[in-house]
Amino acid sequence: MQENSWVPLFPEQASTFAWQVDVLYFYMLAVSTVVGVGIVLAIIFFFVKYREKEKYATGAEIHGSIGLETTWSIIPFIFAMTVFVGGAYVFYNQTRPPADTTEIYVVGKQWMWKFQHGSGQREINELHIPVGRNIKLTMTTEDVLHDVYIPAFRTKMDVIPGRYTTLWFNATKPGRYHLYCAEYCGLNHSGMGGWIYVMEQRDFDNWLSGNVSGQTPVQAGQDLFQNKLGCASCHEGGASQRGAKLEGIYGTDIKLTNGQTVKADDEYIRNSILNPSGQIVEGFQPIMPTFKGQVTEEQLVSLVAYIKSLSGNANQTNTGSTTSTSGSATTNNANTTGTIPPRADRGDSNSQGSNPNAPPIRSEPTNRRER
Ligand code: CUA
Repeated sequence: MQENSWVPLFPEQASTFAWQVDVLYFYMLAVSTVVGVGIVLAIIFFFVKYREKEKYATGAEIHGSIGLETTWSIIPFIFAMTVFVGGAYVFYNQTRPPADTTEIYVVGKQWMWKFQHGSGQREINELHIPVGRNIKLTMTTEDVLHDVYIPAFRTKMDVIPGRYTTLWFNATKPGRYHLYCAEYCGLNHSGMGGWIYVMEQRDFDNWLSGNVSGQTPVQAGQDLFQNKLGCASCHEGGASQRGAKLEGIYGTDIKLTNGQTVKADDEYIRNSILNPSGQIVEGFQPIMPTFKGQVTEEQLVSLVAYIKSLSGNANQTNTGSTTSTSGSATTNNANTTGTIPPRADRGDSNSQGSNPNAPPIRSEPTNRRER
C-alpha cells in the first residue's frame, strides 16, 4: 500500500493536508530549479560573450541601473513571500486540531511506540484508525526525545520527556502506512517504527470490538485516583476536602495564589501532579505531596483522562460501537468504586503489539490490499 503516487519516490498522499505540503514543496522545487538553471545558463552565456578578445582591454564603467536593481529585488521578494504565506497556511492547519477529534494517547520509549485508544485498546508499534476522522495524538515519552513521523500523512512531531505534544491528522485513504521515529534516540532508533492501519469505519469498529481488553484510560485513571494513589482523600467532596475541587475544572481559567491565571489543560494537570507546589490554586495551602517518580507516563495519561472526564470531556471515542466509555466510567464514579474491572496486563508483554519487522501473522482488515 506504500506504492508511489503521481511522482516516483514519493509516498502516497493519504491525509487531508498531504497535498498542501506537496504543492508547497513542488513550488519551491520549481522556483529553485528555474533560478538555478537560469544562473548556470547566464554564467555560460557571459563566459562566451565576454571572453578575452584583446589583451589588456579595460572594462567600461557602469554606474548602476535602477530598473535592473528593482527587478532583481522584487522578483525574489515575491518568491520568498509566497513560500512564507504557503508555509504559514500549512503550519496553521497542522498545528490547530479541529474541535471534534478522536483522541489517542502515545507514549514513546526506547525503542517502541505505545498507543492507547479512548476505549482502552492498547497497541504497540501499530496504530489502527478509521478513515475520514480527525485523529489527535497526545504524546509523551518515558525516556528520551523521539519523533512521530508518518510520511504518507506529511506530518511529524517531536515527542518530549516531561511534556505533552500533540499531532492531528485526517486520513483520506484506507491502507497501511509507515510509521517512523524521526529523532535519533539510541542504538535501535532505526528499528523504532511500525505501521498505521487506516480502515473503513465499519472495519475499524469490528477491529475495536474484537480486541477490547482492560480498562479505558478514564477507568484506569479513576482507579489510580480513588484507590491506588489516594488522590480522592483530599480532592473528593465532603468534610475531608482539602484540595481543589476537580469537577468541571478542565479547560477553565484557574487563579493561582501568585496572582497569575492559567488554563487547566492536560499540561497543567500533569504539572500539578508532578510539581504541586509550582502552581497553587488560590485559596489553597501548598500541602499536596509530589507524585514525581511514583507514577509512570502512562498512569499520568490515565489520570489526565480521568480528570478531564470529570468535566465531561472524556467521550472522545465516539465511533458508535464504543459509546459506553465515558458514560459507564462516570456512573461508576457516582455509585461505587468496587465495580472497576481488574487492572489489565499492561506493558511489553501485551500480545497486541508486534515487531514491525516480524512477518505479518495477524488478521487484517478485509479492505487492505496486499503490497
Ligand atoms: Cu525513538 Cu528515534
